[in-house]
Amino acid sequence: MDISSAPQRDTNANSSRTPHARARQGLAAALLAFSAAASALAGDGVVLQPKAGDPLNGLTASELNLFWQGRTDYVTPFSMPMGLGPIMNKSNCQSCHSNPVGGWGSIKVTHFGMDDKGEFYPLTELGGSLLQSLAVNDSCREFVPEEATVVIQRVTNSSMAFGLIEAIPDEAIAANEDPKDLDGDGVSGRVHWVLPLESSPKSPLRAGRFGWKAQVATVLSFSADATRNELGVTNALIQTENAPNGDMALLDACDSVADPEDHADESGFTFIERVTHFQRYLAEPPQTPRSGMSGEAVFVAVGCAKCHVPQWTTSNLKGFESAIRGKTIRPYSDFLLHDMGLLGDGVQEGDANELEMRTPTLWNLRTRDPMLHDGSAAGGSFESRVTAAILAHGPFGEGANSAAAFAALPSSQKAQLVAFLDSLGRVEFDFTGDGSVDIFDLEVLADCRTAGAVSPDDHCAIGDFDQNGSVNTADAEAFVAAFVRDGGAKPGDCDNDGVNDLVAVFLGAPDTNRDGIPDDCGGCLGDLTGDGAVNAADLAALLSAWGSSTGDLTGDGTVNAADLAALLSAWGSC
Ligand code: HEC
Ligand code: HEC
Repeated sequence: MDISSAPQRDTNANSSRTPHARARQGLAAALLAFSAAASALAGDGVVLQPKAGDPLNGLTASELNLFWQGRTDYVTPFSMPMGLGPIMNKSNCQSCHSNPVGGWGSIKVTHFGMDDKGEFYPLTELGGSLLQSLAVNDSCREFVPEEATVVIQRVTNSSMAFGLIEAIPDEAIAANEDPKDLDGDGVSGRVHWVLPLESSPKSPLRAGRFGWKAQVATVLSFSADATRNELGVTNALIQTENAPNGDMALLDACDSVADPEDHADESGFTFIERVTHFQRYLAEPPQTPRSGMSGEAVFVAVGCAKCHVPQWTTSNLKGFESAIRGKTIRPYSDFLLHDMGLLGDGVQEGDANELEMRTPTLWNLRTRDPMLHDGSAAGGSFESRVTAAILAHGPFGEGANSAAAFAALPSSQKAQLVAFLDSLGRVEFDFTGDGSVDIFDLEVLADCRTAGAVSPDDHCAIGDFDQNGSVNTADAEAFVAAFVRDGGAKPGDCDNDGVNDLVAVFLGAPDTNRDGIPDDCGGCLGDLTGDGAVNAADLAALLSAWGSSTGDLTGDGTVNAADLAALLSAWGSC
């Protein structure tokens, strides 16, 4: 059992919402200051692609406030007096959706049911299909019943940018359906039509798009569902508790908090509304370079794009926030159900049958481990994981043709395809691939200045911000914005020549101590972030470059213990 998710007692039972409210105030204030600094930078004329987990570009101040407040609720554990349990899987959302907060995770949940002549039967009366593996006390713990003949696991998934995906019109999703495969390409796909929990029973059905089975159409519905089913917190949309293995007597014995347990806070928002704000305002993950890699043409040629549809435009309806309305996004999914043969999870859910799965989005793929609904493509290198995931699309079902076409590719084209997939989730200027932009990336960027023409397939394309085919001063200026966003100090101009220090280093001024200030101006060894002191930020930067050749302070060609010693002996202000 994961200790961080163990049920927690709240001694202050009278003010049940206090922990969330208090955490929200402190955290949100700090984060607001942080994001104000970040958006001041965008005022410099550079609009960076947000990093995964960041808020959307273009939110208003009050929307941004809702994002950070909702994020705090998303990460703050519920306690038992607040309504956690009696049976649950974790005590907060982030415990599973951790990479980044709101995103994917490696934690799996268990579903059980019975196989009745090829049909899945969810054993609802015995607590199925989702198992809650934790309980507020041992006597009411749920277990997989003996009757279960189907027991499967599902990995924590995420589409990110939930507000943008929610705003894709139903008709647009339905336009890709081809249930009878009239074009004969082996790929059909169909919409999973569902009724949102917040809609009245007579409302029209909506095109499902969230979950491994596209079983949910709106973020609010998923939030209400997860709040009750993963945390055991009843709410305005699902007002009754799960009974442990369906046993009402056990439920009565273990459940002491009156339903619904989710109440409006001091500002009038419930928990499910708060976490909905956060998820709706999450940005789409970056793609670097943004377009033009030859591997994307291979992706289209072998049929991946038939299901992993690259591009969508969100609805233009006035009801949507301007940061969400009419936006072009590249999630690489059609949000349809497909018969995936052996990749089907054997569970029938809503209208989705045992073999059908929804095409997952591929943005941010480079950070995903494990991949596939059961997490079976796991570990190893990105290339080995992705290759395993692709080959698992065959030999039966709608993915079979493209799995076979991939297997038949010459290795050079396989490599192109993998390189393209590796661009999904890469942060602009992050040559070293550690998820943040620092002084070591400037070193590579500077080398790229003299590299000549840069095509989207070249490593230098990661720094060709304006995609004009070469890495030049305009790109270096955009680099500065990314460097500062990720915690580096805003560069000065030490020799007053009108060129800021980072750009000067980019243009060739020697910076042997890697403090982002040309050596001519002095500076200090180990101040990798250029903030005038050798501190924890520099230590983090050094550790993130460990073992690589870029960023070596001692000149022996690798970042190792000698560099660590040099940094520690320079600790303090310069
Ligand atoms: C125990 C782990 C766990 C916890 C805790 C958890 N989730 Fe999830 N989440 C999952 C899994 C697994 C899935 C995939 C569900 C499926 O399709 O069957 C998922 C899917 C989702 C999705 C759909 C993602 C997509 O785009 O398809 C949303 C939205 C979501 N969760 C929101 C939440 C919220 C909000 C909370 C907190 C109230 C939460 N989750 C808590 C494991 C968890
Ligand atoms: C018939 C539709 C279809 C086609 C064609 C298709 N995919 Fe998929 N893809 C899916 C579905 C559905 C899943 C989820 C399967 C599962 O986990 O059960 C998936 C999963 C994946 C995953 C794992 C993603 C994750 O988050 O776990 C990757 C990577 C992937 N596909 C890449 C590709 C590539 C590359 C191609 C082309 C060679 C391709 N797919 C062709 C439908 C398709």
